[in-house]
Amino acid sequence: MSSSPVIASQKVLDLLQRLHAASLAQERSLSVRLWLLTRHLRSLFVKKTWSSQDDNFTKDKFIALEADKSEFLYLLARSTGATTIVEAGTSFGVSTIYLALAAGQNAAALSSSPVTPGQGAKVIATEKEPEKAKRAREHWKEAGPEVELWITLLEGDLNETLPVEVNKADKIDLLLLDIWTPLALPALKIAQPKLRPGALIIADNTTGFRTAYKDFFDYIHVPKSGFKSMTTPFKGGLEVIVYLPTV
Ligand SMILES: C[S@@+](CC[C@H](N)C(=O)[O-])C[C@H]1O[C@@H](n2cnc3c(N)ncnc32)[C@H](O)[C@@H]1O
Repeated sequence: MSSSPVIASQKVLDLLQRLHAASLAQERSLSVRLWLLTRHLRSLFVKKTWSSQDDNFTKDKFIALEADKSEFLYLLARSTGATTIVEAGTSFGVSTIYLALAAGQNAAALSSSPVTPGQGAKVIATEKEPEKAKRAREHWKEAGPEVELWITLLEGDLNETLPVEVNKADKIDLLLLDIWTPLALPALKIAQPKLRPGALIIADNTTGFRTAYKDFFDYIHVPKSGFKSMTTPFKGGLEVIVYLPTV
């Protein structure tokens, strides 16, 4: 990852490279390819796009945001100065590392004096599988204070955990929706009251799973919803949405 636009220690860049390689290796396996294919077919022909079998299958899978999307996300977070970030769907914590680097570096850039890691910015991460949450924490610990200290991980179903944390926040600058499609709209609705004008919402795989995202797009495309969106041409589509509510 020598040409990475991400500012981080070599230790963190090496860790990211290792985690992306592990995630990619899983995605190239036959079992994951078959699972993805059946998910695509189901999203086209069956209304129920997610089942407990999918939960079981994905319990030990990264399904991490790809490196190019993650780097783009980092740059967006840096360019907007995001210091309060919500991540819907954390898994083993790969995308969270990019968000934590950006949030921490933004906090430092905004301050006239040296910042204590963990002060002045926060990434609120969410993961319902205890084993995945444990692995995520291990990765952040390995990354060290430039990552670990900026993250608050909410363990459990985000429908229950996230409203409490969102309530405490003054505002949300960026929301990453990298979660099973039925959860995308509920997560957006939980965050919406605290989204600041101009906040970014990034949603993954919006071309690949367009049918499954129907309720989400119906909601954001309502005239006067305040959401302005564009699908960027990353693999599977990456939606960049800006919240511009009318006053
Ligand atoms: C696509 S993965 C996230 C990948 C992660 N953003 C990354 O790049 O490394 C989606 C994750 O959302 C989690 N998830 C699904 N439903 C959830 C819920 N209701 N609350 C919290 N997490 C949930 C899954 O367990 C899964 O690990």
